[in-house]
Amino acid sequence: MRIYSGIQPTGCITIGNYIGAVKNWLELQEENDCLFAVANQHALTVRQVPQELRERTLSFFAQFLACGLDPEKSILYVQSNVPEHSELAWILSCHTYIGELERMTQFKDKSRKNEDNINAGLLTYPVLMAADILLFGSDLVPVGKDQKQHLELARDLAIRFNNRYGDTFVVPEPYIPKQGAKITSLQNPTEKMSKSDKDQNATVSIIDPPDVIMRKFKRAVTDSDNRIVFAEEKPGISNLLTIYSAFTGVTVEEAEARFQGKGYGDFKLAVGEAVADALAPVQKKYNEYLSDKAELERIMKEGAEKAHRLAARTMRKVKKKIGFVQD
Ligand code: TYM
Repeated sequence: MRIYSGIQPTGCITIGNYIGAVKNWLELQEENDCLFAVANQHALTVRQVPQELRERTLSFFAQFLACGLDPEKSILYVQSNVPEHSELAWILSCHTYIGELERMTQFKDKSRKNEDNINAGLLTYPVLMAADILLFGSDLVPVGKDQKQHLELARDLAIRFNNRYGDTFVVPEPYIPKQGAKITSLQNPTEKMSKSDKDQNATVSIIDPPDVIMRKFKRAVTDSDNRIVFAEEKPGISNLLTIYSAFTGVTVEEAEARFQGKGYGDFKLAVGEAVADALAPVQKKYNEYLSDKAELERIMKEGAEKAHRLAARTMRKVKKKIGFVQD
């Protein structure tokens, strides 16, 4: 199967991004034909400092590799290095109704948070995301729960285009994990852990040093009842159990049994340790990749060339269907 997914280089790659998305990518790349992108064009919907965006893009790419995404198995690239994304986004945007975009919860949410910069890209961002996916004939898109609505638009656009011009795009399916699709903030456990959260204690980055990871888990908000069980009325503890399970490989039930009768303090320490231990080898590899920029750029260029070849094939088909003259 063809698999596609991406991450925007804003903030940092959080353990929410890791559990909800990257961890599944690692499994999927073993048996499938995958493409994973650092979606830097998406990052422009909020104001960026150019030098920081450049550095963060490289850093995210190095984190992809450090997590175990393998350029021999998957195509790893940076979105802006493949111009067909923008080209297809324009064509798709002429087949998208403004009402469909205005309904998007992420648009409403981000407009509220960035009142001084409600730019057109913030509205049309899901069209660019649909273009990312449809360019490569993707069958499956592994994402967290917050991207479900955007995925539905990508499906609707594929179906709409195919009905109007004849079979062109594969209609993609979302792949949302049963567990970990919405890791929540350590400070506000009913809200999603968001990489752009201003509260440093709310999120854990996969490249946070071990002492920082421990400190953040020690400060995690829980509740006053002292039982370590997974339950709707215990969002903080449930979130920590999910994180523990994701990083150790034990099930949530096994984790509950392991911590039966223990206090919250011990439990939080154990979760912090499990996360820091699991991330230690990732962080070591990350530093190695970052120290060899030439190699990083070589891998990036190779990925972009492969992605470009596939994307150009789709664009030739699309242009013919909609009546553009051949160049
Ligand atoms: P982004 O960069 O916000 O998030 C990257 C991935 O992480 C998932 N995610 C989470 N999963 C569980 N718990 C959380 N708290 C959490 N926060 C984020 C997201 O669902 C996502 O899978 N538009 C996308 C990036 C993108 C993309 C694409 C994805 C661009 N083009 C094409 C799929 C296909 C985004 O902003 O994700």
